Amino acid sequence: MSIPRTGRVRAAVLAGLGAWLPPRAVSNDELAGRIDTSDTWIRTRTGIRTRHVVDPGMPTSRLAVEAGSRALESAGVSEVDVVVLATATPDRRCPATAPVVAHRLGLTGRPAFDVSAVCSGFLYGLAVGAGLIESGAAESVLVIGADAFSTIVDPQERATAVVFGDGAGAVVLRAGEPAEAGALGQVVLGSDGSLADLITIRAGGSEHPTVEQMPSRADSYFAMRGQETFALAVARMAEASREALANAGWEANHVDRLVCHQANLRILQATSRRIGISQERLVVHLDQAGNTAAASIPLALSHALSSGELHPGERVLLTAFGGGAAWGATTLTWPQMKH
Ligand code: ACO
Repeated sequence: MSIPRTGRVRAAVLAGLGAWLPPRAVSNDELAGRIDTSDTWIRTRTGIRTRHVVDPGMPTSRLAVEAGSRALESAGVSEVDVVVLATATPDRRCPATAPVVAHRLGLTGRPAFDVSAVCSGFLYGLAVGAGLIESGAAESVLVIGADAFSTIVDPQERATAVVFGDGAGAVVLRAGEPAEAGALGQVVLGSDGSLADLITIRAGGSEHPTVEQMPSRADSYFAMRGQETFALAVARMAEASREALANAGWEANHVDRLVCHQANLRILQATSRRIGISQERLVVHLDQAGNTAAASIPLALSHALSSGELHPGERVLLTAFGGGAAWGATTLTWPQMKH
């Protein structure tokens, strides 16, 4: 689904980018010392070599503030009109985490709210931020993707414990012209609630408020049907990407950098093949950070900029798939920015 925006006069333009990983790195070998896995299995099945995790007591808001402040600095601003935080690991079930983040960024009083779309959260956040700017409701929006999956994954469950890492990434969107570099293309979004059990934490919500009501301890932890998720992720990211490319008037071979949600290297490779984009154009950051859920796209963009893989004027395609199920894609031409 994409909302037609023919003849639009205002666009949301990317003006700043920031990212942050918590200092503590956990290697595959360290995990293999704790659970029945190996560096070879993790590297060959996922592409991940290391991930960063929060220390006990470091909440998602801390990650979000670090990334958000770097994005504001990159954009050369100290204020924005709205703060949108995409996360599936809020500090608390109630209230939302975004107001805490806004307060710590010196933005007390500004509207601030969470968006819940798991690994597609950053693209959902971009769509909300872009909509606020295009409608004239805001001149600038800080969109943050931050997650601490190490706090919801069972540390003894090898199928999930090896995959996820913690981190945050953020962008500042400002009002601008649809034709300028950095202007976001239409954000294509989709969801399928019949797949709610694919990626889930069963206990702890209004359906099953306490784990005591559930058949097993596993119900209080994050669970994912990995192989099914794998196939759906490739199919939905490729479909959403094709729609985003058509909206931009681009062919697949126009794309200079493909930035997928960093789930698994094999998923990224299969998705690029399905869209028809050569593998050299894939941005890969999961080897260093694992799957950081809502943070993975801005973290990957920041990595690509720092490592010299992304330059002003290059055409970028962003796409994600995750719990919900929910997915999305959008395009932009990379702007000049301080980073
Ligand atoms: N170490 C060693 N062996 C393992 C591990 C591990 N860490 N994990 C699983 N295995 C074993 C399994 O027990 C199984 O053994 P068996 O054949 O004896 O039964 C074997 O490896 C194969 O298991 P699979 O689950 O089939 O492994 P697969 O190759 O599918 O990899 C993975 C698992 C990495 C999770 C993969 O399925 C995947 O990446 N899926 C998609 C994840 C994704 O896209 N997520 C995006 C959204 S996430 C979100 O929204 C929060």
